[in-house]
Amino acid sequence: MMAEELKVNIIDHPLVQHKLTLMRQKETGAKDFRELLEEIAMLMAYEITRDFPLEDVEIETPLTKCKAKMLAGKKVGVVPILRAGLGMLNGIIRLIPAARVGHIGLYRDPKTLKPVEYYCKLPPDVAERTLIVVDPMLATGGSSSAALTLLKEKGAKSMILMCLVAAPDGVRVVNQDHPDVPIYVASVDDHLNEKGYIVPGLGDAGDRIFGTL
Ligand code: PRP
Ligand code: URA
Repeated sequence: MMAEELKVNIIDHPLVQHKLTLMRQKETGAKDFRELLEEIAMLMAYEITRDFPLEDVEIETPLTKCKAKMLAGKKVGVVPILRAGLGMLNGIIRLIPAARVGHIGLYRDPKTLKPVEYYCKLPPDVAERTLIVVDPMLATGGSSSAALTLLKEKGAKSMILMCLVAAPDGVRVVNQDHPDVPIYVASVDDHLNEKGYIVPGLGDAGDRIFGTL
């Protein structure tokens, strides 16, 4: 039987991997967990923007006129999936301060594991932006896939999904539902348990960020 190919980009930068290991540890408290998530989000944003196009512009330094590089192409939007996605927002907008921010509120029904939408507020020009959709956990894939579908319904045309930890099932679902959306993660973990938690994972990301355990 052929091994299944998951379409996912793993950011294996040593700083990202080291910080993720600290986040996984059960004794890591909410303050450190939040700080580490923000730092990782910034490092991941640095990696995923590596291929953003540049253009030459004319500028004047204190010494002379010259040509220099500036970002070209589409403007950026960041869309955290509430709640846990909020933990990745600051790290990204510190790198891309001009990005507009949209919010999508989804929670996973603990019985059915299906996403339930409760909030959506987006910049008006989502169709003209490259959207970085962020959620630390890609478990069954239901929440991320639903968020991407909703964004497409609102006109989004160019999206990147950035998660911290994924299960193979979640990657598979997003690959199937949204083959046009590249996925970036720090780790693809082993499996989902019977409650839909990623194993080994890091537990409930929202609860660990906001101290609601
Ligand atoms: C978590 C997580 C994802 C979702 C992943 O959110 O932040 O949004 O579960 O699971 P899935 O891939 O199976 O859909 P949760 O529903 O716990 O809400 P919260 O962020 O408000 O804690
Ligand atoms: N949501 C989380 O926060 N953690 C998991 O492991 C799965 C879903």
